[in-house]
Amino acid sequence: MSTPAPQTHPDFSPIRFEDGVLHLLDQRRLPADEVWLELDTVDQVTRAITDLVVRGAPAIGIAAAFGAVISARRHGSDISAWRQDLERLDRSRPTAVNLAWATARMRRCAETLGRLDADALEAEARVIHAEDVAANKAMAAAGSALFEPGSGILTHCNTGALATGGIGTALGVIMAGYRAGRVERIFADETRPWLQGSRLTAWELARQGIPFQVVVEGAAAALMASGRVQWVVTGADRIAANGDVANKIGTCSLAIIARHYGARFMVVAPASTVDPHMASGEGIVIEQRDPAEIWRAAGLELQPDGFDAWNPVFDVTPAALVNCIVTEHGVHQPPYRFAG
Ligand code: MRU
Repeated sequence: MSTPAPQTHPDFSPIRFEDGVLHLLDQRRLPADEVWLELDTVDQVTRAITDLVVRGAPAIGIAAAFGAVISARRHGSDISAWRQDLERLDRSRPTAVNLAWATARMRRCAETLGRLDADALEAEARVIHAEDVAANKAMAAAGSALFEPGSGILTHCNTGALATGGIGTALGVIMAGYRAGRVERIFADETRPWLQGSRLTAWELARQGIPFQVVVEGAAAALMASGRVQWVVTGADRIAANGDVANKIGTCSLAIIARHYGARFMVVAPASTVDPHMASGEGIVIEQRDPAEIWRAAGLELQPDGFDAWNPVFDVTPAALVNCIVTEHGVHQPPYRFAG
């Protein structure tokens, strides 16, 4: 039997920029409907990021970069109006550093030119997108080489093509491992309340014809106790200089359970997710979202009488629980020291 060739390019991308219009695959509607939205104002791009039309740290950075292009086309030479739009984009979601990283690149591009040049900014946004494709490819090779043949993997949230510019971070590593014959079992955490695992990761794996099982978050300890998981592999929204990792709520629980049962914990993220100015995870702002998301996920449209909820959507996994961090520059081992 021949080994399938590793996939290095996504078979689709949820982000396209054509003729000044940003096309986004509406991830809120997947897997039931594949609906594309066409955005040509910064307000629309900002709202699409906040409302999770586009989500995943690298993908929101790329979307924001194209938002900056839309703003430049609208504002002509008015650089202060453009800067205000970039500040609005920066505020659209607080935890993933890729967003501010991408807008900072766009600002530097304008500063280097000494003026607003929409064509040059569009070229820069396309470079940001292309760099993410290349980073995904490098991480897939480096991360998948760490799996022993026969490995079982548990992943959380969605970190594939939907969340990035390319084939994905953690999911790209897992798919490459499967194609190389090293990964035998894939478990996708449901990921409450937005179900990025059971809706989006499941959709991506099914499209690729890769077998998997969805599990509810509460099954993680039982699953790892059963010995079927050798690696927990996740992405990241922000990695502090000391290696603390902010990622989708529930990630830290998985790392604690993995340590208890002897599974290893791998984080896969491009260098644009590393925030060398953040000394540790303590300083990372954790996005709090509408509690209504929690009862809606349970199928209740209205807040039941007397119900309240706490809805932080990220948590911080201490570096001490992270066995390795894979970036496009290679495999980082503890102790982590990421410099600017
Ligand atoms: O709220 P989301 O869906 O944007 O959260 C996404 C995650 O937490 C991902 O794990 C992270 O952004 C890495 S995506 C390659």
